Amino acid sequence: MNNHNPPIGVFDSGVGGLSVLRRIRADLPHETLLYVADSGHAPYGSKPVDFVARRAFAITEFLLDQGAKAVVVACNTATAAAIARLRAHFNLPIIGIEPALKPAVAETRSGVVGILATSNTVRSDKFADLLDQHGHRARVMVQPCPGLADCVEHGELSGPRPRALLERYLEPLLAAGADTLVLGCTHYPFLTPLIQRLVGPNVTILDPSPAVARQLRRRLEAAELLADGRAVGGERYFTSGAPEPTARLMARLLGQPVTVEILPERFGQSGPFHA
Ligand code: DGL
Repeated sequence: MNNHNPPIGVFDSGVGGLSVLRRIRADLPHETLLYVADSGHAPYGSKPVDFVARRAFAITEFLLDQGAKAVVVACNTATAAAIARLRAHFNLPIIGIEPALKPAVAETRSGVVGILATSNTVRSDKFADLLDQHGHRARVMVQPCPGLADCVEHGELSGPRPRALLERYLEPLLAAGADTLVLGCTHYPFLTPLIQRLVGPNVTILDPSPAVARQLRRRLEAAELLADGRAVGGERYFTSGAPEPTARLMARLLGQPVTVEILPERFGQSGPFHA
């Protein structure tokens, strides 16, 4: 990694943010990406919001320590908990993610949109603002999904546990006539085949990661930080959890071999809160 092509940091509570990373990889092939799975502290969706914010700060500090030129918070929950404070504190482009409600209300034909997200995301002020801004243009059914990200963390992408949870969470949305579903947690795109089987072919499933990759490109272009077209991109993966099972799971989700390094101890704890 040289100074002419500093890396982009991407992080999530665990492996979910890989759904964003793979999109960034496809759209920005010359960039070097550092991915942090905070698996030692997952799930974020049901932890105290202040704890999630502390983790976002500690990981951003690690990424800066590695020379990151931009950070992608590939986690709706951490974005809702911390993005404003991260941006106020750190002087580099920080790109967040939020449920794709705007495109969903534009696309729905039935006028009913369902949002699947973590409990913390749907309780957040940021989510309330999003609903205020776009929610009046359709009937929006908000469904917190405890346990669902955890299925993905354990590699359960089909089978009885995710199926039972999804049947329970999707039932009220389908009963209300939702024809557009927003995946408001970066873990959920890995469950898309199962979700699509359960909802049938006429329901559209929206994943916001293409919009995040586009926004990242815009921000890098504006700051003249895009990698040189001759640069060879690459990835490094870190976890605050157990590296071997994390590497196995990541390899399965990405469909390629993955080596996972241990997040250094001083960034692995919840650390001092600087906001
Ligand atoms: N992947 C995360 C999100 O986008 C959070 C999952 C969790 O840790 O609860 O919200």
